[in-house]
Amino acid sequence: MFMRALVVLGAAANFISVSATAWPFDLTEIKAPDGSISAKFVSFGATMTELWVKDKLGKPRDIVLGYDDNSRLLTDPDHPVFNPIVGRYANRLKNGTFSIPITKVAQPPGPNVYQIPTNDHNGQVRFSAPNVTLHGGIYGWDRRNWTLVSKTPTSVTYKHLDPADEGFPGNVTAYATHTVSNGGVLKTTVHATATEKTPIMLTQHIYWNLDAFQNGTNDILSHHLQVDGSRVIALDGNAVPTEQKIGARWNDTIDLCGQGCQGYDSAWIYDRSEQSRAGTSLWSDVSGIRVDISTNQPAVQVYSAFWLNTPRKVVHGGPSLNYSKWSAVAIEQQGYVDAINTPEWGVDQIYHPGRDFEWSSTYKFSTVK
Ligand SMILES: *[C@@H]1O[C@H](CO)[C@@H](O)[C@H](O)[C@H]1NC(C)=O
Ligand SMILES: *[C@@H]1O[C@H](CO)[C@@H](O)[C@H](O)[C@H]1NC(C)=O
Ligand SMILES: *[C@@H]1O[C@H](CO)[C@@H](O)[C@H](O)[C@H]1NC(C)=O
Ligand SMILES: *[C@@H]1O[C@H](CO)[C@@H](O)[C@H](O)[C@H]1NC(C)=O
Ligand SMILES: *[C@@H]1O[C@H](CO)[C@@H](O)[C@H](O)[C@H]1NC(C)=O
Ligand SMILES: *[C@@H]1O[C@H](CO)[C@@H](O)[C@H](O)[C@H]1NC(C)=O
Ligand SMILES: *[C@@H]1O[C@H](CO)[C@@H](O)[C@H](O)[C@H]1NC(C)=O
Repeated sequence: MFMRALVVLGAAANFISVSATAWPFDLTEIKAPDGSISAKFVSFGATMTELWVKDKLGKPRDIVLGYDDNSRLLTDPDHPVFNPIVGRYANRLKNGTFSIPITKVAQPPGPNVYQIPTNDHNGQVRFSAPNVTLHGGIYGWDRRNWTLVSKTPTSVTYKHLDPADEGFPGNVTAYATHTVSNGGVLKTTVHATATEKTPIMLTQHIYWNLDAFQNGTNDILSHHLQVDGSRVIALDGNAVPTEQKIGARWNDTIDLCGQGCQGYDSAWIYDRSEQSRAGTSLWSDVSGIRVDISTNQPAVQVYSAFWLNTPRKVVHGGPSLNYSKWSAVAIEQQGYVDAINTPEWGVDQIYHPGRDFEWSSTYKFSTVK
């Protein structure tokens, strides 16, 4: 069912053949020629496992959460979704159902009604529905064995064939490419094609801690966050200013991310106007590291990681210390959450032969004093 053979791709001279022996936790490192940025990836989920950029003193820090043993991406029962490509439908699907064409209440069984396994904290009440599909089901794209199809010193491309997994209609073939370049830039793109009408909504689920747990820091509450969006999708309409420390007004966030949860798990819609790019910025005064994210996606989910509890990488002080609540912030460039069950928004998330899906985000790193 998965391609285990040697894969040779394309006419480009620098494409190489890749043996499947080390698959799916094979590690690939890419580095910018100027040394400003380097990153490591595994095939499993097309997942980023490390991302090194320089702090304000010029010292490299690994600013993404992860595991020292990458097989934990598959086996960690908490399944925090550390930095993979998430699909076929990222974020939440109300009741785990949808229909094509879309309707407000997709009642299975029925013609063109699809039921995806519900997996959001085992049915715990969060947001509006008790039974919710999160990140494409139990075995979404982040827990699938992608195939490494090409690499260069600065770029790596993975392929995933999703043959109607988890109950979605039709096959989807996705190519994810991660590229680093001089001046501290990481770019990720995903191109996906479908054989039948299907919803596609993807994200790259990176957990950031720009201090890398150094200099006495343990959480991201003093990180500055700026979202170029003035509208929040539903929930409770908590008004959020355009730039603030994540921990500012922290008492207003009790239960905001769900019952018993404090912090953000909120979706902003990018304004995307002459005055405003579609993007999010995050920076820390401690390390001085700043990231400016720009994207072709219409929205961003910001999750301040309340539910984390898993041993840290050694480079982050593990394994005796755990990643725990607010250890990181996930910033997920994506489409409108659950638009596939919200016809009144008029957002078309259905892709088919002749309508490919394109996702891209650029992460530009710099330092602040
Ligand atoms: C939710 O899913 C269940 C189980 O498939 C189904 O019985 C129910 O009708 C669905 N409800 C809505 C509102 O779609
Ligand atoms: C939620 O799922 C559980 C277990 O599958 C089921 O017993 C319950 O009826 C569902 N609730 C709703 C509202 O669909
Ligand atoms: C992916 O690879 C791992 C490790 O070899 C294996 O345990 C897992 O079952 C594979 N997943 C799929 C969906 O084949
Ligand atoms: C979908 O994928 C399956 C499994 O690889 C394959 O057998 C089938 O031919 C594919 N269907 C289409 C329409 O590509
Ligand atoms: C962080 O702490 C290290 C010592 O652990 C120190 O050398 C470094 O200067 C500190 N960096 C900053 C940006 O304060
Ligand atoms: C936040 O809530 C805690 C506990 O209720 C309280 O001690 C603290 O003073 C509050 N902080 C602010 C800034 O209101
Ligand atoms: C760290 O996480 C693991 C896995 O969830 C858990 O078993 C352990 O008790 C945690 N340790 C601490 C100190 O919370």
